[in-house]
Amino acid sequence: MYYKHQIFFCLNERKPGEDSCALVGAQAGFDHCKSRIKSAGLAGPGGIRVNKAGCLDRCAGGPVAVVYPDETWYTYVDKSDIDEIVDSHLVGGKPVERLLLPPDVGR
Ligand code: FES
Repeated sequence: MYYKHQIFFCLNERKPGEDSCALVGAQAGFDHCKSRIKSAGLAGPGGIRVNKAGCLDRCAGGPVAVVYPDETWYTYVDKSDIDEIVDSHLVGGKPVERLLLPPDVGR
C-alpha cells in the first residue's frame, strides 16, 4: 500500500439553497488536517495523504470526509474533531465512533 491512509475532504459548493460542505467549514477542516499531518511528519509514502475532493454526494451530512482504505465516513464540526480523527484513526487505527456519518445520509 502506497499510503497507510488517505483522507478525502469534500470542499464542494453546490447551487444556492442546497447543502454544501464549502458553506459549513470544509476548507478550514481540510487546512487544519493538512497542516497537522505535515507538522507531525506523517505525510508522504507509507504515511497519510490529505486530499481535496469534489462533491461526495453526501452533502446533507456536511462537512464530510472519508478515510481509505477503510472507507470510513465522517462528519465533523471543528478543529478538535479533526484532531481526534487524526490521532485516533489516522495514527492509531481506531475509528472515531462519535463522528461517523450515519449510513443513510445522502445528498
Ligand atoms: S457538497 Fe460535500 S458531499 Fe456534496
